[in-house]
Amino acid sequence: MTHVLHIGASPGGADSRSLALADAFLDAWREAHPEDTQETVDVWNLELPEFDASMIAAKFAVLRAQNATAGQRAQWERAVRVSQQFNRADVYVFSVPMWNYGLPYRLKHYIDIVTLPGQNWRWSRDEGYQPLLGGKRAFLMYSSAGDFSEGAVTQYEDFQKPYMRQWLRFLGIETAGEIALAPTLTDPENLARVKEDAIGRARRLAVQG
Ligand SMILES: Cc1cc2nc3c(=O)[nH]c(=O)nc-3n(C[C@H](O)[C@H](O)[C@H](O)COP(=O)(O)O)c2cc1C
Repeated sequence: MTHVLHIGASPGGADSRSLALADAFLDAWREAHPEDTQETVDVWNLELPEFDASMIAAKFAVLRAQNATAGQRAQWERAVRVSQQFNRADVYVFSVPMWNYGLPYRLKHYIDIVTLPGQNWRWSRDEGYQPLLGGKRAFLMYSSAGDFSEGAVTQYEDFQKPYMRQWLRFLGIETAGEIALAPTLTDPENLARVKEDAIGRARRLAVQG
């Protein structure tokens, strides 16, 4: 049995294009793989601890100096719990709107909380950085006002897809498929076509698994 975790990064609710794309993907996945479990994390409604100076001090005290106070251990545990929920999945689905050429800040906050040494990566003098989530796969559902597809003049202005791919690679997660619903800043007829095409591709990708 495969556990599919959807991480929703749009605050747009029913109006969100990236969430609509992910919903189509998840519905098709459910039909094609009824034995699999699905769970959604909405980064806009998740209580995320601050990753500030006191969290960094707690991390150091727990993992390095091993002189953490009870308060520091509890603070670090809050981050570890969010990380462990993330790490339990076998397959990831991300719905990611483009914000200022990159990610919405709540998704970046989530990434900074879940990406923890000893939980999903490790470092040693002999081996350097080692990913701990090898064998897992991710499907990415993007949306943007502009068109940043391969071959477009704006292709290299896109810091959304390269960032997601690199972060996933760091953890050992394979980027198994990407669909972009774009451009959304277009006339209504074209937007309807763009949406229908992207949703069709998301469904086919989910059926292939
Ligand atoms: C704060 C903010 C920043 C945005 N920045 C960009 C951008 O840099 N490039 C772009 O093409 N679209 C940008 N957009 C437009 C969204 O990417 C676009 O509306 C997308 O469809 C939103 O996805 P959603 O409907 O899933 O929320 C931005 C939207 C917001 C709210």
